[in-house]
Amino acid sequence: MTAAEREFEEYTGGEPLGRIVYSASEIAARVAGMGAEIAAAYPPDADILLLGLLKGSFVFLGDLVRQIRRPLQVDFLVASSYGTGTKSSGSVELLYDPRAPMAGRHIIIVEDIVDSGTTLNQLCGGIADRDPASVEICALLHKRIAPDLEWEPRWVGFDAPNEFLVGYGLDHGEDFRHLPFIACPRT
Ligand code: IMP
Ligand code: MG
Repeated sequence: MTAAEREFEEYTGGEPLGRIVYSASEIAARVAGMGAEIAAAYPPDADILLLGLLKGSFVFLGDLVRQIRRPLQVDFLVASSYGTGTKSSGSVELLYDPRAPMAGRHIIIVEDIVDSGTTLNQLCGGIADRDPASVEICALLHKRIAPDLEWEPRWVGFDAPNEFLVGYGLDHGEDFRHLPFIACPRT
C-alpha cells in the first residue's frame, strides 16, 4: 500500500477511495496564485465582498481569503441543489441570504466546483440585481461541461475531469469534505 493510499484510509476510516486528482500541495500552490491574481485585479480602494457558496466552498474560501493580501469582507450564500446524490436535481434553493449590503460593492462569489452550471445560473442574477459595482465568480474547479453557463467564472483553479470528485470541501452524501486533497471515489 502506498503512503497516499494509507492516508486515504485514515481519513475515511478504512474505506478505500480511488485516485488523488489534486494533492494538498498542488491545491495550495494554485490557491496562492489565485489569491494574488484577485488582489491585483481591483483598485486599492475597491470595497470587496467575497460570498462563499456553502457548504462546498468552506475549505477553499478559508485558504483563499488568507492569500488575498488586501482589505476585504466575507459572507456566505447557502444553496442546495444536489441533496445526497451525485446528479443535479436542477432546482436551487437559497437557504441563507447574506445580511451584508451589496450596493456599490465588488462581489466575488466563491464556488467549489462548476458542474452543470445550474447553481451559478440561478444565483448570480439575484446578486447582480442588488446593484453591486461588479460581480465575479471564483471557482476552484470547473468541469467545462455546463451547456449554457450564463455566468462564466473569471478565476478558475483547475479544469477538472468529468468525474465525481470529493475532498477539500466537496462531499458525497456529506462525507469526505475534510480530505486535504481532491479525490475520485471508487464506484
Ligand atoms: P452545478 O450547479 O451542477 O454547477 O453544481 C454545483 C454544485 O454541485 C457544487 O457547488 C457542488 O456542491 C456540487 N457538485 C458538482 N459536482 C460535484 C462533484 O464532482 N463532487 C461533489 N460535489 C459536486
Ligand atoms: Mg455538495
